[in-house]
Amino acid sequence: MSEPYPRTVVVLAAGEGKRMKSALPKVLHPLLGRTLLGHVLNAAQPLAAERTMVVVGHGADQVRAHLAEAAPGAVPVLQAEQLGTGHAVRIALEAPEASGTVVVLNGDVPLLRPETVAGLVAAHESERAAATVLAAEVPDPTGLGRIVRDADGRLEQIVEQRDATPAQLAVREINAGIYAFDAVRLRDVLGKLSTDNDQGEEYLTDVFKLLVSAGEPVGVHLAGDHTETLGCNDRVELAGLRRLLRDRVNERWMRTGVSLLDPETTWIDVTVALDRDAVVDQNTQLRGGSVVGAGAVVGPDVTLIDTVVGPGATVLRSHAVGAEVGAGASVGPYAYLRPAARLAEKSKVGTFVEVKNSEVGAGAKVPHLSYVGDATIGARANIGAATIFVNYDGVNKHRTVVGEAAFVGCDTSLIAPVEVGAGAYVAAGSAISKDVPPGALGVTRAPQRNVEDWVTRRRPGTASAAAAERALQGAPGVTSAASEGEAIHGAAEPVGGASGAGDTATE
Ligand code: UD1
Ligand code: CA
Repeated sequence: MSEPYPRTVVVLAAGEGKRMKSALPKVLHPLLGRTLLGHVLNAAQPLAAERTMVVVGHGADQVRAHLAEAAPGAVPVLQAEQLGTGHAVRIALEAPEASGTVVVLNGDVPLLRPETVAGLVAAHESERAAATVLAAEVPDPTGLGRIVRDADGRLEQIVEQRDATPAQLAVREINAGIYAFDAVRLRDVLGKLSTDNDQGEEYLTDVFKLLVSAGEPVGVHLAGDHTETLGCNDRVELAGLRRLLRDRVNERWMRTGVSLLDPETTWIDVTVALDRDAVVDQNTQLRGGSVVGAGAVVGPDVTLIDTVVGPGATVLRSHAVGAEVGAGASVGPYAYLRPAARLAEKSKVGTFVEVKNSEVGAGAKVPHLSYVGDATIGARANIGAATIFVNYDGVNKHRTVVGEAAFVGCDTSLIAPVEVGAGAYVAAGSAISKDVPPGALGVTRAPQRNVEDWVTRRRPGTASAAAAERALQGAPGVTSAASEGEAIHGAAEPVGGASGAGDTATE
């Protein structure tokens, strides 16, 4: 594709957006992974502009900070007083001696497709027009500028709703607020804009009237999909835009081989990537830089933020931020993965488990009710239910290391810094603050003591006392289970089979 003209992009983003009723400038409101302004800048990407300027005013500091982070190539230009869209473009073009094509975009029209902007500019440049406006036929033109044509169908002027005659109000062809201009001819007429209108502002749209009366060629480029031209003026409109974008994004993924079981409750940021045969179940939000690998199943009821899910993994009813879930791993239901939770392949993080800044090794399991913070868990280790990695001493965080194929019994505290060696066991209910060597059993429990007949004596007349009496009379020996030898429940000598150390693997 030849690019005969140098291009300058000007995004208008100085307005307050009063009807948003927000401390946040309108153009910074988020919409599925980007700000409104971010979407507009993205739509201008294929133009390969030499210069991109963003006119800022209301909330200028916030908008500048956002640009520095999200679009460092874009130059903010301050419009201290918002005297209209024409005034805004005039200020933007004051500094640099722009030539070639100037493309103006409204900062609050975020659904615009890059192809549509490229099409507008291509038409404008091939016609050698002085100005070309992107227009659309809309079902309800209320509030928008109308495209007014002459008897031959040529653009005559663009009239704002509040300045329009009843006949002009009936026009359903509207100005999308997106334009291509010849820089030199634009600059000539910008100085001639009047403020003789209902708002007392310099309207950029009046440029067309001025160019037409000077005999310059102007054009109208029609957008095929009018929803691309929808603006955002309040939060109801923003919600409508979000639904439209959701449907657009979801349709794209379904057509590339991803199953969305309930597209209406599936919200995927434009920045997310999914692989073939991924399945996304209902009520699921995939946000930021999240990636879902081939054949992975995510949802129902899952939120992933900047989280990478490997091929074939499953994530069920869980919340994850900045985490990595390895291939074939299983998460949830009801897991919380926090930043730098890294789950290796085929590992398992189960129900009511929170993981932060930790590696869970390949095939390792943390199935139930645990907190894993600042830990390294070796491959095939088994962490029993309700194990807590005690990482915080009130001042500093410390790490815990659990070796390969280690077995940590239920209801254990691992008090960091501490290491459980490869193949070591920890008895259920222990508080481990010293290293357990490889292959050793770590145990910190006091021996169990049974006080015979305590219930009969201290809780007479209760259901428990009655049950105890029945058991003692009717079935002698039933209560003898808790004998001295089992004080360390199952963790002493291998007791064979079912009562293995720690009672953890309650799968
Ligand atoms: C504008 C158009 C209207 C079009 C509509 C499409 C004019 C006069 N009207 O109307 O024909 O149908 O967009 O959405 O242009 N801005 C500045 N500085 C200013 C004024 C506005 O930067 O002094 C920015 C705003 O932040 C916004 C954009 O320009 O991003 C459009 O301004 P807005 O006031 O929303 O214009 P509309 O009334 O929507
Ligand atoms: Ca607007």
